Amino acid sequence: MKGVVLAGGLGTRLYPLTKVTNKHLLPIYNKPMIYYPIQTLVEAGIRDILIVTGGNSAGDFLRLLGNGKEFGLSHLSFVYQEGERGIADALSLAEHFSDSDKMVVILGDNIIEKSIKHEVKIFEKQEKGARILLKEVENPERFGVPEIKDGKIIRIIEKPKIPPSNYAVTGIYMYDNQVFDIIRTLKPSERGELEITDVNNRYLEMGQLTYGILDGWWTDAGTFESLLRANILVAEKEKRK
Ligand code: DAU
Repeated sequence: MKGVVLAGGLGTRLYPLTKVTNKHLLPIYNKPMIYYPIQTLVEAGIRDILIVTGGNSAGDFLRLLGNGKEFGLSHLSFVYQEGERGIADALSLAEHFSDSDKMVVILGDNIIEKSIKHEVKIFEKQEKGARILLKEVENPERFGVPEIKDGKIIRIIEKPKIPPSNYAVTGIYMYDNQVFDIIRTLKPSERGELEITDVNNRYLEMGQLTYGILDGWWTDAGTFESLLRANILVAEKEKRK
């Protein structure tokens, strides 16, 4: 199983914090944001990791992370995404790296409390397709939201005005190699991006999307409110240790 951290994009919702640096280099309590998704993958037993970066300060990722020694890794791979063409566009840059393996993909601003090891094990056994992780949230309209009937996802809507459930699709996705063919068929959304929600809906149409519910707290850190929340949650967790 390979791991991909998506840390491209321009982080415009955090201006001016992101005017001269990359969102994923901003601090979350006592570490740069990018440390947390890398740690999530490493803790789940993944050793072969690609960082997709872009925008400002891309070179700083190499200076900060090197070969991943701090995480017990012997090497890290990097690619550069031009522009802000969306999460699925960033993922398309992992095709060569994936080398036909299954992958766990995590958004660089997603921070979680607990382990995803169990979920990764389930996906290892899944013959083909994709697996996503959901989490109940208070403000689902900010996220991709699944419509669920009789325990089954019917469809996923990206940032719906009227959310069909209280669940968010978290930024932790597991894919087989079909994902790259799917991305090639996508058209940019209204916000001009290749949407990961369109990828997940395609797997759903193929009857190959499974889901789990994420254990412990989950937050993104892409807005001022969620950045603050992430800092508080991580600080509380560290103090409990
Ligand atoms: O956090 C979970 C949510 O992430 C999901 O519920 C949504 O379905 C999904 O679309 C996404 O929503 P956001 O609008 O919050 O994504 P955002 O544009 O903030 O991008 C999240 C991360 O994805 C960002 O930290 C880095 C990566 N990214 C994003 C874009 C637009 C890239 O690597 N390249 C990009 O071009």
